[in-house]
Parts: sequence; structure tokens; C-alpha cells
Amino acid sequence: MSDDSPIMSVRDLQINYRTGKRSEVVAVRDINFDLYPGQSMALVGESGCGKTTLGLGLLKLLPRMGHVPQGEIVYRRKDGTEANILTMDKEELRRFRWSEAAMVFQGAMNAFNPVQRIGDHFADTLKDHATAQQRWSKKDIAERSEELLRMVRLEPARVLPSFPHELSGGMKQRALIALALALNPQVLVLDEPTTALDLLTQRSIVEELHRLRAELGFSMIFITHDLGLAAELADRVSTMYAGRIIETGTADDIFYNPKHPYTEGLIKAVLPVAGDLPELASIPGSPPSLASLPAGCAFHPRCSYAKDDCRSATPELESLTDRGSDLSHRAACLHSHRINFSREVIASV
Ligand SMILES: Nc1ncnc2c1ncn2[C@@H]1O[C@H](COP(=O)(O)OP(=O)(O)OP(=O)(O)O)[C@@H](O)[C@H]1O
Ligand code: SF4
Ligand SMILES: [Mg+2]
Repeated sequence: MSDDSPIMSVRDLQINYRTGKRSEVVAVRDINFDLYPGQSMALVGESGCGKTTLGLGLLKLLPRMGHVPQGEIVYRRKDGTEANILTMDKEELRRFRWSEAAMVFQGAMNAFNPVQRIGDHFADTLKDHATAQQRWSKKDIAERSEELLRMVRLEPARVLPSFPHELSGGMKQRALIALALALNPQVLVLDEPTTALDLLTQRSIVEELHRLRAELGFSMIFITHDLGLAAELADRVSTMYAGRIIETGTADDIFYNPKHPYTEGLIKAVLPVAGDLPELASIPGSPPSLASLPAGCAFHPRCSYAKDDCRSATPELESLTDRGSDLSHRAACLHSHRINFSREVIASV
């Protein structure tokens, strides 16, 4: 196996939520991708499109109502062995999480235990994941916690004895990223890590993530509703709609040459259109209910390019380039050739 092999390969993944005794909805479907060592992939889309569900599913962290009726997530461990995450037992998962793959949860800033000092959060995480080869002494814990906080440019002497409420939002988010890196994972999943932060703090966290990834070499799955942020941070961007990836490509493909009307809509929604007054063009309508998806292309009720065939045929994610499957620009649209997005219509920002 070469070092260029994917670290994570997802095939035909579907995730359902039970909604009643005999009812369930499909929240995520038809997910296929490979994540390579050191690669950064963004999952982008409106609220409810399935980003968090997919992120949780990748680490087998779904809530009780969630389950995976089909699919495979093959993961290549640090020692080179492979395993399907979905069939790992409790003990395998305990070893896998944190030391192989870690997640910074959506809204996690508020999930710090308010009566526990930050230092105790670090100590608990390290102790909980001690292995036969590595037991953490008090001194080891202190040294590793300090090292991790310095890595995210926080002052250990100030932060470790603090309670969560004594830190700013940006400091808490940095501390969480440091905590997720505690056991040196190969994959880091970050779910909306900058959403609640002001623009300047957002920027500094994004720069931090860039630097850390370059220094430590982990792969990253970055979940966001902000396409601009995705384009900045990710090598590869996938847009999601109604539980499916409907377009995927390099950040340049997606941001400069979108080939799905939904992606085009997301871009227009974050950049002002030309004119005297900046005006944002939102996508008309709202996402469909998972319990009753429209027939054909799920986006058709909101799509200005829709034709009759869109109401009956479900478009597959098809390659638009001949760069090879892992690198290709793909879109699930019957009329992608008609989309000719031009940055001319975007005013300078
Ligand atoms: N525990 C659950 N039980 C039932 N349905 C759920 C549950 N969690 C999420 N869902 C549904 O699954 C769909 C996807 O939700 P998810 O939270 O993954 O979306 P998201 O893209 O992360 O949205 P947001 O941007 O708001 O965080 C939504 O329709 C949501 O209602
Ligand atoms: S398949 Fe049709 S409805 Fe769906 S995105 Fe393409 S043009 Fe729009
Ligand atoms: Mg979410």
C-alpha cells in the first residue's frame, strides 16, 4: 500500500433517523469519497442538508435514533492496517477515536463542563485514552496540555487554571481544537468551528487551522455553511443538498466554475451582485422535508434551470472532467452544461 492511498474511503453511505416506531427518514444518501493524507475537504450546504449527520456518521458517533442501513467507511490506521469503521466494536472505537480521528462538534464551545477547569478537560481526555503502551503521569499530562495550548497560540498558564466562562469564544474554540489534537489524530472533523465567532476571530482560527495542518499533516473535514470559508480552507469542496453530495471538485472548480445550480446559488448568496448597493441573491424557497422529497431532482422546485425531465429523473453525480475519479469535478445535474457562471456579475468586494 502506498502513502498515496486514501486514509478514509466512503462508499454508498446512507444514514437514517428513526422518527417513530415504524418510520424513519433518510438523512444522508449515496455518499462516496476518498480522503487522502493531509487533504482538506469541506462539506458545504444550507441548514438541514445533512452535514453534521455525515460528519458524525464518519466517526460512528450518531445519536441513538441514527443508523447506517448501508455503506462502508474504510479507514487506514497509523500502522497501515485497514478497518471498516462501521463494524468496529466498542474497544476498537475507543482506540480509534481521538488517536486516529477526532471531531470538534458543532456548538461544542458551550459543551465544556462549566464547573471544570480547562486543565481538567485536558487531563480527563488524556487519561481516558491511556493505552497499555502509554500511561499518562501527572507530569506527562501537564507537559502535553501545555504543548497543545501553545500549538494553538494560547498561554497555558492563563488558560489551564481557567473555567470555561473565563475564556472568550475564540479562546474556547482554540482550546477545543487543541483538545481534539491531543492524541495526534490523522483525521480531524470540524463542524462549523467558527460560526459563532466574529469575523476577525474567524480569520485567526482559519489561519491557525492552515498552519496546524501544514505542521502536523492531518487530514481535515471542514463542515460549514460558508462557501467562502470552504474555498479558503479546503483542497476539495463538496456541496450537499437534501442529504446528497450534489457537486464536488477542487476549491477553484466549485468557486469559479460551479456546475450545479444549487452551488451557483450558494455562491451568489455570499457575494453581492453588481449594482450601487450591495445586494445578496438568496436561493428562492427552502430545503425540502426529508420525509417527502420531490420526485426527480430534489432541487427542482427551487431551480431556475429546471426543465420537464428534472421532475422525473434523479441526476447522478457525473464527472465533468477527465482528471481521474478522485480529482474530477462532478455534478449531479441534468443540465450542468447550461450553467455558465460568470464572476463578471459579481461586484468587487
Ligand atoms: N436526532 C435526529 N432525529 C431525527 N432527525 C434528525 C436528527 N438529527 C438531525 N435530523 C435531521 O436530519 C437532517 C440533517 O440534519 P443535520 O443536523 O445533519 O444538518 P446540517 O446540515 O448539519 O444542518 P445545520 O447547518 O443546521 O447544522 C435534518 O433534516 C434534521 O432534521
Ligand atoms: S437536474 Fe434540473 S432541477 Fe436539478 S439542478 Fe439540474 S437543472 Fe436544476
Ligand atoms: Mg450541522
